[in-house]
Amino acid sequence: MVRNCFLAAGAPPSAPVNIIDLDNGDSCRLDTQRKAVEPCSIVIFGASGDLTSRKLIPALYHLFKDNQLPPAFRIIGFARREKTDASFRAELREALGKFSRTKSVDDAVWAKFAENIVYCMGDLTDKAAYQNLEARLSSFQQPELRNNLLFYLAISPSQFGDAVENLHDTGLLKPPGSGTGWQRIVVEKPFGHDLASAHALNSELTAYADESQVFRIDHYLGKETVQNILMFRFSNSIFERLWNRESVDNVQITVSEKHAVGTRGGYYEESGAMRDMLQNHILQVLSLVAMEPPVSLEAEAIRDEKVKLLKSIRQLSPEEVAKHVVRGQYFAGVMDGQPQVGYRQEPKVKPDSNVETYVAAKMFIDNWRWSGVPFYLRTGKCLPLGASEVRIQFRPTPNVLFAAACGGRLDPNSLTLRLQPNEGITLRFNGKVPGTQVGMRPVRMHFSYDSEFGAYTPEAYERLLLEAVAGDATLFIRRDEVETAWQIVDAIRKGWEGKPLTNREFYAAGTWGPIAAEELLAQSGHVWRDPQPIK
Ligand code: BG6
Repeated sequence: MVRNCFLAAGAPPSAPVNIIDLDNGDSCRLDTQRKAVEPCSIVIFGASGDLTSRKLIPALYHLFKDNQLPPAFRIIGFARREKTDASFRAELREALGKFSRTKSVDDAVWAKFAENIVYCMGDLTDKAAYQNLEARLSSFQQPELRNNLLFYLAISPSQFGDAVENLHDTGLLKPPGSGTGWQRIVVEKPFGHDLASAHALNSELTAYADESQVFRIDHYLGKETVQNILMFRFSNSIFERLWNRESVDNVQITVSEKHAVGTRGGYYEESGAMRDMLQNHILQVLSLVAMEPPVSLEAEAIRDEKVKLLKSIRQLSPEEVAKHVVRGQYFAGVMDGQPQVGYRQEPKVKPDSNVETYVAAKMFIDNWRWSGVPFYLRTGKCLPLGASEVRIQFRPTPNVLFAAACGGRLDPNSLTLRLQPNEGITLRFNGKVPGTQVGMRPVRMHFSYDSEFGAYTPEAYERLLLEAVAGDATLFIRRDEVETAWQIVDAIRKGWEGKPLTNREFYAAGTWGPIAAEELLAQSGHVWRDPQPIK
């Protein structure tokens, strides 16, 4: 059934508009204006690494399978180890069997896809290797495959500088608008380990590339549910008008993980939960949840608002850090009935390590909309449930009528955006328990992606790679975003300097974090609302 409505109520009706019909699978497409993806070559530096076989190739394979890649493309793996095109393809095929999100791999599709994959052996510091790369790209005998280039730097950040300089010197990386196709650079986290190093890294990259050519990945932005935050907020009038200090009591963002640090001890000792998760994924989610409406859907307009939001987060003095931020570290416990060693006993971890495997912070956003509303952020390893969610906790009703009768036990309303797993949105409100007795309790209204749209779970990397090929930077982090996020994190880390973890900051593996994190909320009369398993 198609019903009609008119654009401007009150104004004389001009053109009738078909509203979206819920029941016939209709939707409002926003990407019809998008440029068709152009033929290009994707060069992966560090192609022997894990990321290529686990994430990048499976994502590209699925894009190919769904006809999303350009009509002509090549994927060039660049690394030091000796390999032939055939042996490189064979390795990737084997890994795809393990890491593909769809089982089983379609061998006919793979064979066609793999024809486009080649290997180029070389050292990142060796100019001659880039000349070989140039020769290989030219050998494709199609100007677009030589000139439209996506360079994926799956390498250590300490090698970014060499890579861009050599690409520039070999004529593979040109300034935008120089008339020879387009070139873009994709980089992964960790993007620096503090503001100074991030700044230095940015300067190295932008010495040879324009900022508009740099695509910094935060894989959280590739998640459907994270992208939906903006759509949810700015396409629904009923929620957005409550989205402010008048109606919101506090906001809780939880990214809890069940897994332990395990084999990643070496990396984790340098990062900890603060740098690994809060500096990037959690602050990104926070900025989408709290930002002002952008003036348009253009990448720069959205990123401007995210930066503005990050800049309004109150900076903490070292003394305030002790009151507003809690670290934690797991000790031995039980996870799913199995013994779990403590962080200090994990491989490559110092036996007296003070690195945090958990962090909880109370942040304030000093702007008109959010003044006085606490934003509680937390993340940790070895927690009882792996789940990410944003919970908007609304203000309680006045303490009269039902609230008074219930002696303050009436649950305030909440709206939870479940980012993963069991993606969905839940509104919680109070209702009468049916029956002759008079009772009330909270009930839920739940939207599940799975039941509404079916089980469609593309990997974040699919979306991100496609956007990078298309040249849309909306889902990537701009230089000022990453640097502002580091400013916030640096201020907190400064407050931790020279202060070892205290007893109140340890937690048993398999529990919801240290006691100090409970106290952090209790100071303001709040409690953590832990994510729940959803069946
Ligand atoms: C990564 C972190 O960036 O994100 C990991 O380095 C973490 O420590 C991971 O486990 C979480 O991502 P996801 O998509 O599983 O929530």
